[in-house]
Amino acid sequence: MKHPKFLLTIGLIGAAVLYLAGCTKQSEDKLKGATTCDTTAVSYSLQVLPILQNNCYACHGAGSTAGSGGIDLSTYTKLKVYADNGYLVGNVSHSPGYVGMPYGQPMLPSCEVNTIAAWVHQGTKNN
Ligand code: HEC
Repeated sequence: MKHPKFLLTIGLIGAAVLYLAGCTKQSEDKLKGATTCDTTAVSYSLQVLPILQNNCYACHGAGSTAGSGGIDLSTYTKLKVYADNGYLVGNVSHSPGYVGMPYGQPMLPSCEVNTIAAWVHQGTKNN
């Protein structure tokens, strides 16, 4: 009578091991996804600009006035003012003391925040 119980236990352990292995595989896949966020040499036109176009220009596009504090971030020169004074990174990383951007919305995905921060740290190149 002991035998079937033993087999059941082995079966459950086996299932648990397979389940955990499945989770590990998923985390590995997520990590692989994260490493595709390349911030080694960030380009304004190829990486930063699309993030702004998709998430910021609705309020900060050319000639922005109403609803965005009158802040126009539509050109490199205009954006650089806020990159240099620390607001851009403070705003997008939702740092204490800064109004989180996009305004009233959750923080951007970490890859996009890291891309903007890396661009600033690499000297806000107009590339
Ligand atoms: C829904 C409209 C809206 C969106 C979208 C938005 N902003 Fe703003 N933004 C505002 C408003 C309103 C202010 C003025 C906030 C204040 O002074 O209280 C502001 C201010 C700013 C400022 C000036 C610094 C400051 O804190 O006042 C920067 C820089 C900025 N936003 C960057 C961004 C960036 C980068 C994005 C996209 C990731 C973005 N914003 C998306 C509405 C928006």
